[in-house]
Amino acid sequence: MFINPTFALNKTIKKIVVLISGRGSNLQAIYHMIMSQKLPVEISLVISNRDDAIGLTFCQAQKIRTHIIDSKGKERSIFDSELVQVISAEKPDLIILAGFMRILTSVFIDAFPNKIINIHPSLLPKYKGLKTHQRALDAQDQITGASVHIVNADLDGGCIIAQIVIPIYELDTAETLATRLLPAEHILYAYVVKLWAYDILHFDAQGAYLCDQKLQSPLQLSAI
Ligand code: GRF
Repeated sequence: MFINPTFALNKTIKKIVVLISGRGSNLQAIYHMIMSQKLPVEISLVISNRDDAIGLTFCQAQKIRTHIIDSKGKERSIFDSELVQVISAEKPDLIILAGFMRILTSVFIDAFPNKIINIHPSLLPKYKGLKTHQRALDAQDQITGASVHIVNADLDGGCIIAQIVIPIYELDTAETLATRLLPAEHILYAYVVKLWAYDILHFDAQGAYLCDQKLQSPLQLSAI
């Protein structure tokens, strides 16, 4: 989509909080878009539920503020309350789940209505939850992909905003699919965040809107 550059003038910088659990490659993709001045967004805070998340090392190197809330052995609602407390203080415009491997309860979701998005490595509504690539292979699917969706109380079940498709080849394994999908995920997530940052895309309880038109189906990108 063409974004009128004049629209970008005097654009207010929106604040995001990013939640990670591991590598944080989607976070890095968003960060690089910001640094190349293609995204009027500030990463206010990165929160990890694991102190050994590799993505934290990247944040330290780039001087991005981080916060660890260890989820190990913690009741879900207690962890989520801590998360709400820390994130509320940031007053973010959007909360981005990027490889955040923790099921969230309504304690968290209800605190930030229509403000949380996630990326999931399947063409939702197919293959919610884990082992998405193996499930696509087992079903002998010809294509797979990733979806960015609004987070609600149903696991991977919120309104699907956008998807990117890649082919599945005969010799693919779950590992090769994950490897080939990852760069496509980066394109997809940065694309969605960019549309949102420029006020082209917004969300409410009813769904996602592109230029104030309710999306009837997810935006489609192709990496084929
Ligand atoms: C990605 O495949 C993402 O879709 C999933 O977790 C994986 C890890 O991503 N939710 P990242 O490298 O930590 O961003």
